[in-house]
Amino acid sequence: MVPPASVPLGFLLAGAVGLVAFGACLAFGATLAVRSPRSPDVLAVTHLGVLAFLTTAVLGALHQFAPVVGVRALRSIPVARITVVTLVIAVWALPIGFAYFPTTLVVVGGLVGAVAVCLAAWNLSGPLSSREGGIPVVGLRLSVLYLLVTVTFGVVYVLDRHYGWFPLIEHRVLAHAHVGLFGWLGLTYISVAEKLWPMFLLAHRPKARSGAWAVGLVAAGTAVLGTGLLFAWPVVTGAGGAVVAAGIGAHLTSLAGAVKHRRRPLELLHVFLFVSAAFVVVALVLGAVGGLAPVSTTVRMHLVSAEIAALIAWLGLAVIGHCHKIVPFITFNRLRERGIQTNRSGGPLLFGDLFDHTVAVATLVIGATRFALVVAGLAAGFAAAVAAGGAAVGIAGLAVTLNLGLGPRRVLPKAAHQDPEPELARTT
Ligand code: HEM
Repeated sequence: MVPPASVPLGFLLAGAVGLVAFGACLAFGATLAVRSPRSPDVLAVTHLGVLAFLTTAVLGALHQFAPVVGVRALRSIPVARITVVTLVIAVWALPIGFAYFPTTLVVVGGLVGAVAVCLAAWNLSGPLSSREGGIPVVGLRLSVLYLLVTVTFGVVYVLDRHYGWFPLIEHRVLAHAHVGLFGWLGLTYISVAEKLWPMFLLAHRPKARSGAWAVGLVAAGTAVLGTGLLFAWPVVTGAGGAVVAAGIGAHLTSLAGAVKHRRRPLELLHVFLFVSAAFVVVALVLGAVGGLAPVSTTVRMHLVSAEIAALIAWLGLAVIGHCHKIVPFITFNRLRERGIQTNRSGGPLLFGDLFDHTVAVATLVIGATRFALVVAGLAAGFAAAVAAGGAAVGIAGLAVTLNLGLGPRRVLPKAAHQDPEPELARTT
């Protein structure tokens, strides 16, 4: 049912490189991010975060997860591989184009990105058209639809930057940004969580209605919020924002329910989840103050930038936390298929053997504190904090990539490091 490990791992590796680049470029572009958030260099950094890191990693997770939850395979493995390649081309062409070649490369990046997400949507439509799977499958159908809408917005805006059809004023850009962050990335996470959280915690909740409300409210609220922002209708924007906030409230209630009814102890993943949840609350507060408070344009700009950064932190920490489950799960199965049953000390092979726990804790501490520094720095207009935070986020990205990427080396016999194949062949 699930695709070969190289498919999700290919997306996840590309997403990890995107995270490192996002942190590094944020460190270098901190002054511009504070002074001029709409500048091309800042757009480049933002898209490294939302496309090269988050969208790429989340699509990788979906190529693994959708077949499991829909109990139906992807439509085509070769198309999944082509999707990785086209997506990687797009998510790098777009930021490089924004920063250095304003027209040609941006248009190419936008169009190749549109091809990549259409391929992904077609492939995922196989498992997602299944009648199995309940709320997570319904939520994922909608979130993939929102991905298509986000990218359509993006391509129209890219062409508009070239042909000048209409003024690309802030509220229109924010419509695209919020549909992408809440409708695509947020809704995907909220939907997937409804399957993964009870499973990881062995939680049998008497009712799981809060999860269904979360998916429904975030999906409906994003449509209203996006429409309000697009046409600069403050009442509609406020109503949409309130519905999305209610959906996030239901999502957090669902997390509390899974934790309360757990039959397994909490672990590092859950600390990632709690910290990540704090960032979405901060984002909602910043968004509400930025949208409603009578503040100057400069302060509003800082608040909106900080809100976008807090949403990236919410999703980023959740993705990194879940990767500490997903990647060991995939590599564990791969090693078992190849006959590796034990760890280096001869004990049974466990997921926990496939990464260093201390490095994982350090990743969480660095990621959480430094994302907080970035959000605070953007809100207060303090570039040095954004630069310091960005650099450390890049380092956290490098730490998680090496920690999870080198996982199999921690269990393979030493001689197999030079050439794993003969060792694997002997053990199979
Ligand atoms: C192929 C895909 C995409 C293209 C072509 C694209 C293109 C664009 C363009 C042209 C802008 C406005 C530029 C301006 O202000 O002049 C923009 C802004 C933005 N986009 Fe995208 N985008 C894409 C995907 C996404 C996704 C998937 C997300 C989020 C999940 C996203 C989040 C944002 C954000 C947050 C901004 C505002 C940045 C800021 O104000 O600093 N974009 N995008």
